[in-house]
Amino acid sequence: MSQANLERLKSNADRATEVFLLQWPADADDGLYAPIHYLMSLGGKRLRAVLTLAAAEAEGQPAEIAMPAALAVELFHNFTLMHDDIMDEAPLRRGQQTVHHRWDSNAAILSGDAMFTLASIALTGLNASVLPAALQMFNRTALEVCIGQQSDMAFESRENVTLDEYWNMIRLKTSVLVAASLALGAQAAGASEARIALWYQLGEQLGLAFQMQDDLLDAFGTSATGKQMGGDILSDKKTFLRIHAWENASAAQRSEMNRWNGKEHKPQEKVAAMKAMMVDLGSDRVARERMEGCIEAAETCMDALDLKGAHRAWFEFVAGLVTTRQS
Ligand code: IPE
Ligand code: IPE
Ligand code: MG
Ligand code: MG
Ligand code: MG
Repeated sequence: MSQANLERLKSNADRATEVFLLQWPADADDGLYAPIHYLMSLGGKRLRAVLTLAAAEAEGQPAEIAMPAALAVELFHNFTLMHDDIMDEAPLRRGQQTVHHRWDSNAAILSGDAMFTLASIALTGLNASVLPAALQMFNRTALEVCIGQQSDMAFESRENVTLDEYWNMIRLKTSVLVAASLALGAQAAGASEARIALWYQLGEQLGLAFQMQDDLLDAFGTSATGKQMGGDILSDKKTFLRIHAWENASAAQRSEMNRWNGKEHKPQEKVAAMKAMMVDLGSDRVARERMEGCIEAAETCMDALDLKGAHRAWFEFVAGLVTTRQS
């Protein structure tokens, strides 16, 4: 039932995305739109679009009313991935070459910029009565994602990043978009300010758990992620795992961690050594506990929203997917 609902919303979003992008076809030698079609055609869970549509339905409106916002958040998300992969020097995305590997960084920068614009264009399809508020939410979110991504990069070369700094960084780079996805869906459905704020809070908690699982999968997942394994470790990313390990390490373990910093090591050796220390120090176990804490907070938001019946069951199901997903 919940799975069928997820598939229904995803296929609605997929179809609408395809139709929307037909307006910008890629010619054979095109270097601007071809990377966009390429990345969008590689799949992806379409989680943000699905959340937007589901929130509109939970507010008693047909999903279609929120489709412009669903397109906008999904295009925006894919734009951030295109640029994120340059910044993270990632070779793989969704099991295929990243755009900057297949084309080059200039192509990924420019196609990403175009994609951001397409997201704005999509959003303007919303009903005029909700558009000003939606634009405000969308723009604020976009700026916050940039702040989060800037922190993520700055933390690579800092060792003393605190868990508080980490939570704020992932809230900005990941959660605010999940939060805005739900809030925009509710907004499109004409929900009250108070309910829009509750949807936003629900998305923040789901987004924190989502990024925790992303960090866990980066280190301990399988090739099912479609991304390079251990990419965060190779870049010295300050994930929860890394910060927890550092905070709990002995002096000897800290000097070992310091020794592995930087890019001059054999990748597999560095990843194996860091993962072994994280496991020794219980960092993966604590990360899973903290992730479950975010899901409990998300449940409290569902209570506050008074979500019932099939809608409640569906959001519980999605919260479960966030923490058990392998891709
Ligand atoms: C990856 O997002 C980027 C993060 C915020 C962790 P997803 O895991 O939702 O990526 P796709 O769209 O399903 O490929
Ligand atoms: C991504 O974080 C956040 C944004 C794209 C804004 P990550 O860098 O962890 O995402 P993946 O792991 O590359 O998908
Ligand atoms: Mg990345
Ligand atoms: Mg990144
Ligand atoms: Mg990641």
